[in-house]
Amino acid sequence: MEIPQKTLINGFSMPVFGIGTWQMGGRHDRNTTNDATDIAAIRAAIDMGVTHIDTAEVYASGHAEELVGKAIRGYDRSKLFIASKVFADHMEHDALINACTASLARVGTDYFDLYILHRHVPNVLLSETMAAMDELKNRELIRNLGVSNFNTAALEESRRCATNPIVYNQVHYNLEFREPEREGLLDYCQKNDVFLAAWRPLEKGALLADAPQVLIEMCDKYKKTPAQIAINWLISQKNVVTLAKSSNIDHLKENLGAIEWEMDTEDIERLRLEFPDQKDISDAVPLA
Ligand SMILES: NC(=O)c1ccc[n+]([C@@H]2O[C@H](COP(=O)([O-])OP(=O)(O)OC[C@H]3O[C@@H](n4cnc5c(N)ncnc54)[C@H](OP(=O)(O)O)[C@@H]3O)[C@@H](O)[C@H]2O)c1
Repeated sequence: MEIPQKTLINGFSMPVFGIGTWQMGGRHDRNTTNDATDIAAIRAAIDMGVTHIDTAEVYASGHAEELVGKAIRGYDRSKLFIASKVFADHMEHDALINACTASLARVGTDYFDLYILHRHVPNVLLSETMAAMDELKNRELIRNLGVSNFNTAALEESRRCATNPIVYNQVHYNLEFREPEREGLLDYCQKNDVFLAAWRPLEKGALLADAPQVLIEMCDKYKKTPAQIAINWLISQKNVVTLAKSSNIDHLKENLGAIEWEMDTEDIERLRLEFPDQKDISDAVPLA
């Protein structure tokens, strides 16, 4: 299958769904125990049509990037959309350039389709960080600039500081965690031509246990599983894309059943209003 793309007014396009790699190759430390399974999962995802792979230098101390590198070997690089993130301790100019070249080496590629600041670090001027991001773009080491875990004010400032457009902000957003709605970020992204990429769309699987009544009703109406409804609810919204991690091929297949159809607007809004136990702010320490 071909994963549909969304396109911003400025012309930037990306797939509505990608595979995440947090917890592949370990958490914060490198762990090679499940390498074969993780590589096979990424390759299976590509074979099923997934082109967007999301990783980060901090995942498993760089090992997740190495696994992505091994997984993509033999595939046509130009058909893939690979994103990585620079961590909080590399936001100064030279550190950021070095972090990017090290990440590229681990993935074994000449460029990232999207390079993302993992989170906002108040003690380094965004003007310095964004100058380094612009330089990476000018050197053709990255094709697009993104940020992650930025609130609306930080996103606005990053857009002012960068010469190139900031096309993407990756944040915690799902049926339960609604900070981007409450804080105004979703509205800002929709009005200012930025993708909001929802990380943790399934709340690491927690959303699927004991599905509440409103989710069960949607599953019945659309003949879909809770995971498919949860992912579709995100990508049915303007400017929202998402990425789920899975090392399990059955889960991957299930998640792909979330795309190429749209929920009715009234159902998107019903889930927005009626999904129980909503949280106004993310509970996650944004390391992943
Ligand atoms: N920028 C940030 O700060 C940040 C933070 C968190 C995450 N992220 C990115 O976003 C990606 C997605 O978030 P996430 O990995 O935290 O959470 P997630 O995608 O919501 O959940 C992943 C977990 O759910 C399981 N799962 C996946 N599909 C499933 C299904 N259909 N049924 C049951 N279980 C399923 C996976 O297990 P199996 O492997 O067994 O399928 C895995 O344990 C990450 O991998 C990472 O790339 C970014």
